[in-house]
Amino acid sequence: MKATKAGEHAIETMQVEERRYAPSPEFRKQANAQPDIYNRSLDDFWTKEANERISWFEPWKQLLEWKPPYAKWFIGGKLNVCFNCVDRHVEKGHGGKVAYFWEGEPENDRRQITFADLLQDVVRFANGLKKLGVKKGTHVAIYMGMIPELPVAMLACTRIGAPFTVVFGGFSGESLSGRMNDMSCELLITQDEGWRRGNRVPLKANADAAMESSPTVMQCVVIKRTGGDVQMKQGRDLWASEMLAGTSDDPKSCPCEPMDSEDLLYLLYTSGTTAKPKGIIHTTAGYLVGVATTHHYIFDVKPDSVYWCAADIGWVTGHSYIVFAHLANGTTGIVYEGTPDFPDKDRWWKIVERYKPDILYTAPTTIRTHMKWGPEFAAKHDLSSLRVLGTVGEPINPEAWVWYREHIGANRTPVVDTWWQTETGMILITPLPGITTLKPGSATKPFPTIDAAVYNNAGETVPPGGGGYLVIRQPWPAMLRGIFGDPKRYEETYWSRWKNTYFVGDGARIDEDGDFWLLGRVDDVMNVSGHRISTIEVESALVSHPAVAEAAVAGRNDAQTGQAIVAFVTLKGGKEGSPSMLKELREHVGKVIGKFAAPSNVVFTPELPKTRSGKIMRRLLRDVSENRPLGDTTTLADPTVVAELARRGKEEAGKEES
Ligand code: WTA
Repeated sequence: MKATKAGEHAIETMQVEERRYAPSPEFRKQANAQPDIYNRSLDDFWTKEANERISWFEPWKQLLEWKPPYAKWFIGGKLNVCFNCVDRHVEKGHGGKVAYFWEGEPENDRRQITFADLLQDVVRFANGLKKLGVKKGTHVAIYMGMIPELPVAMLACTRIGAPFTVVFGGFSGESLSGRMNDMSCELLITQDEGWRRGNRVPLKANADAAMESSPTVMQCVVIKRTGGDVQMKQGRDLWASEMLAGTSDDPKSCPCEPMDSEDLLYLLYTSGTTAKPKGIIHTTAGYLVGVATTHHYIFDVKPDSVYWCAADIGWVTGHSYIVFAHLANGTTGIVYEGTPDFPDKDRWWKIVERYKPDILYTAPTTIRTHMKWGPEFAAKHDLSSLRVLGTVGEPINPEAWVWYREHIGANRTPVVDTWWQTETGMILITPLPGITTLKPGSATKPFPTIDAAVYNNAGETVPPGGGGYLVIRQPWPAMLRGIFGDPKRYEETYWSRWKNTYFVGDGARIDEDGDFWLLGRVDDVMNVSGHRISTIEVESALVSHPAVAEAAVAGRNDAQTGQAIVAFVTLKGGKEGSPSMLKELREHVGKVIGKFAAPSNVVFTPELPKTRSGKIMRRLLRDVSENRPLGDTTTLADPTVVAELARRGKEEAGKEES
């Protein structure tokens, strides 16, 4: 099948997209967010939300200190994230409420975890960590799949005041090691294996490889999930059950550490435009206030809501909206371990029928996958509990948006297209479901108090209809506080383009109604199935293979995954490519970064197109990978290279069609 160009299509369609969906009067009336929410000032808004939504051990004294590009929020406050997410709900008598309905990938493997259960689990885990010497300020890495022990481990760290980094279970050992070294982690929490589409993901084996080159990691705690065979290194590795033996589950035995508002909560690594991922810094109070507040208003969460964010906790969506926001708000959530098509393509809809969530939040790539499978899988199940649908991670094409609303939301539910980033910590551009008239493909309006704009190259505001660079001109509570260990990169990446203005890295357009349409990345960051990955990371993975002389990578539009990765590779010694080399290179990238970053196409070429000054002409590579007519080639050092490349590119695309 020929791949259609989803991204372009979305943009073209958006221009003629005239469908409008106003909230129903019933929804409007009962909504958490009422229209006056947009009139509240920054000071008033965040002061009220912080005081009503969060419990403080010591009140904060100053709302915001903004010394660009560094912001501090809720200065002087003392609080604990775990206390806010768990203890206080139990203290208020909500211990019996379900915190997580957990569904394992193997069917009939289920757990129901109340807030009281969660408190016991977290206290025991935190006591266990303490026994191993973890204390306030110890850096911890977590490398796990979607099992209940993952939020438990995160919360146990926050209880003690140990900053952590969660590394997505799809990353390789090498990626894990790079992150643990950057953060100087002393302890790693992992599991034996994970389940994915019926296969075992060798998490502990990957972790073993990572620890070989992570000298700071002294101990490794292993949670048993599949019971598969793993190596345990004496003196370094221990089973969680051993760590937990004899530990108390009484909250008094492990009180929540009072943390400063600006203490480090976690780092989350994300791709930038160099080969080295950035450790994005999130601190305690602003982050928690920001995620809890947006969660409440955007998803219209009610006390009896059952909320399903179907992301992976290893990415920021899972951090903010499966763990911290949802628990801080005392909401019942669903966590599902596996893939949507295991054992059948209706697995998700079975889950909806079973737990009756009223809110579902997922990524456009998943919606397009369900769309490709056809609506009959959803139609077999009762989805009538759903009341609000959400999307995140990439621009959604209007067809997918409308399909989601019609086939999953019975043409009744609002669909909130939420725009944000690892760096922003919380949703920044989004509809509010009881207020906003929705337009398929548009993330609509900045959240209250968020000052978003679209600039041209000169830093002037682009008039309605025109495209430009998305910027944010005022700080917000959950914003990143820096890049770990690299203030210069922080300043250059986000703040050097325009004074005191956050440079997002996305293109956008604002229409006549003031609604935002996101147009994808403007830098060398690709977005594959909602996973951010830079061209340079994949390139350096490829050239680390002994047979590769040079490599360049471009994203091409893909109807399902948003973008797919095309690699252009020159082999050493003038060797020609072969199917076995292709397989080897894909596996190699899988090993270096993670399988999700393996190129979908590899074009072998004796030479890459370069300018006379030796720069690879990425624009031309994008043309080739999209199978488009080539743009301006006059600056090429050797114009014959590109004709040959175009021929090879076509050949490679042809293979895919067949
Ligand atoms: C893209 C994910 C269009 C965007 C929360 C951003 C989106 C990057 C949307 C961040 C959306 C996210 N519409 N594009 N609703 N949401 N993006 O850090 O390019 O994994 O810069 O955070 O995803 O990806 P990240």
